[in-house]
Amino acid sequence: MRWNRNYVKEAAESGTVVPGFNVFGYEDAQAVIRAAEKAGSPVILMINKGAREAMDIQSWARLLISLGQRAEVPVGVHLDHCSDLNLIRQAVENGFTSVMYDGSMLPFEENWKITQKMAEYAHARGVFLEGELGRVPYSDLGQREIRYTSPKEAAGMFEKTDVDWLAVSVGNVHRLAEGTAAINFSVLEKIQKVCRLPLVIHGSSGISEKDAAKLKKEKIGKMNFGTILRKTFADALRQEMKRCPEEFDRLKLFEYPVKRIEQEAYQIISKLQKEEKDEDSAERAI
Ligand code: G3H
Ligand code: ZN
Repeated sequence: MRWNRNYVKEAAESGTVVPGFNVFGYEDAQAVIRAAEKAGSPVILMINKGAREAMDIQSWARLLISLGQRAEVPVGVHLDHCSDLNLIRQAVENGFTSVMYDGSMLPFEENWKITQKMAEYAHARGVFLEGELGRVPYSDLGQREIRYTSPKEAAGMFEKTDVDWLAVSVGNVHRLAEGTAAINFSVLEKIQKVCRLPLVIHGSSGISEKDAAKLKKEKIGKMNFGTILRKTFADALRQEMKRCPEEFDRLKLFEYPVKRIEQEAYQIISKLQKEEKDEDSAERAI
């Protein structure tokens, strides 16, 4: 189904969250779509730096768009974390439904100006743009310093640009395998008071179920998951190879790991969709 509305904004306004998943091939892309169909939720398939180094943008676009068009739910195709403006333009021209310009490493003035330039470019072609403020560290690269998103800069991004979604750093950390990140809800509140943009949480593999349930009630429109599905796939594949050491058919070897991805993605998506009746039921669900 076509991604034809701002489902991320709608989610931020309605207490749900659109899940974005990093995908690395047709197997996990299909498994994520099946999970989203089962949960009845829009979903975003995201291409990260590693995936685009492995295969070109045009091929990714053709593969993921064709899978998405046949789905029963809206499927977005998103270019994740990109500061290469030519690559962003290439993704837009090839039919990606959203792109991220990541200018988080730049001084604010430069970041918002390029973000605005890319927003104008993307919007003229019917594509959504995600920007970023603050720094979400990568635990696998040994980065420890969390540079929180400045509420003042978030207000500036909201006032000065037409960016659609804003990725924020509020204690979230990339590439954690367990829910050990400490979300700073007081920083998040300060950002939300002055910036009405739908917010995006990166590094969601590292967020506890309790914090995810709380984030759903904030103005979070999208949460990005990568590590959790990659780990699910690799763990299941190791298990499967141990179980059948003589098997050489990748289609057979992948059956169980892909099924596990579908199950894990379904768990994640249904928790982000589910309406909690009250605070107590949110706590009980955890
Ligand atoms: O850039 C990647 C996404 O934010 C997902 O992060 O792999 O830590 O879940 P994650
Ligand atoms: Zn990220």
